[in-house]
Amino acid sequence: MVLPEIYKRLSESEVAARIWAAKEKLGKEMVILGHHYMSDAVIQFADYRGDSLELSRRAAQASEARYIVFCGVHFMAETASILSRSDQIVVIPDVRAGCIMADMAETDEVERAWADLDALWPGDVTPITYVNSVASLKAFCGAHGGIACTSSNAAKICRWALERTGHVLFVPDQNLGANTALAMGIPADEIMIWNPSRPYGGNPNIEEARFIVWRGFCNVHVQFAIEHVIAVRARYPDIQIVVHPECTPDVVALADANGSTSYIVRYVREAPAGAKIAVGTEANLVYRLAKECPDKTVIPLADSYCVSMERINPWNLLRSVESILAGEPVEQVSVPSEIREPAKIALERMLGAS
Ligand code: 13P
Ligand code: SF4
Repeated sequence: MVLPEIYKRLSESEVAARIWAAKEKLGKEMVILGHHYMSDAVIQFADYRGDSLELSRRAAQASEARYIVFCGVHFMAETASILSRSDQIVVIPDVRAGCIMADMAETDEVERAWADLDALWPGDVTPITYVNSVASLKAFCGAHGGIACTSSNAAKICRWALERTGHVLFVPDQNLGANTALAMGIPADEIMIWNPSRPYGGNPNIEEARFIVWRGFCNVHVQFAIEHVIAVRARYPDIQIVVHPECTPDVVALADANGSTSYIVRYVREAPAGAKIAVGTEANLVYRLAKECPDKTVIPLADSYCVSMERINPWNLLRSVESILAGEPVEQVSVPSEIREPAKIALERMLGAS
């Protein structure tokens, strides 16, 4: 929905004052959840901030709130809607805040891939969907013995799957999938990338695969390259490098540590004074950590921003909270029950296993 002119003309301080006033009036009736990639201008209003797993848990526990305002991208708001009660209303300040990676795996394509794999190994393939995916893909996994995962529990979830079946189909992030499988000790030649436009995903030797990863990626995290690692290490020989597991396996292999956005926050905050840390994730988070930790040198491995996350700003957040105050919430996110129920199975399996 286009932002009305009356909001566009407000200064940032007027917007902030009105958001605080709306929060005060709505009290416990409304909860604002904010992902770590939100700008400082937005995250200041979040009642809870976190990574995808923490925010999913918050959404499932937000029992007092009638309204959940999700400052993040669409799949996160959808997840909140699936996990919340049916009388709760989930709102996102801009429904156009999508995720390019989530759009790389269409549910019908994944269904076809799974059917091919199931024909090869009947009953012996578990589909795992990263939460960065559309609700119908989570529903497919829930209905086929599969499960969801986030960047902070991917290893646990993959172990859960491999205890049940000999093979995994991991969608949509090839990098999180491959990084997790490699860290679990699965040999590289048993990890294959599935290209949906080729027979058997473009793998003539598919019979040798154990861990199949979809050909999706995050355009924000694939920007980080070996050259960036070499350059920061040359400039600061004693620097630590921490990256998100959506980075490519070659970058993850050269980093000192990798983990979810909350893992990265803890890694930087808990480092001793004087530490030098280069961070390979979305730049809004990296610059916030640098400001929060003036006693450390915290730099981005390279500047990379998520334009989808940046669609959420104080102006459209104000419009969301004032629409709730007016009793007519705009930009609601809901999932039809035939998708919601099986998607919830995949998410609840994940919450139970992590
Ligand atoms: P986290 O679960 O680590 O917060 O990741 C979400 C995401 O979209 C990273 O690009
Ligand atoms: Fe999606 Fe990447 Fe943005 Fe995360 S950073 S929301 S994976 S596009």
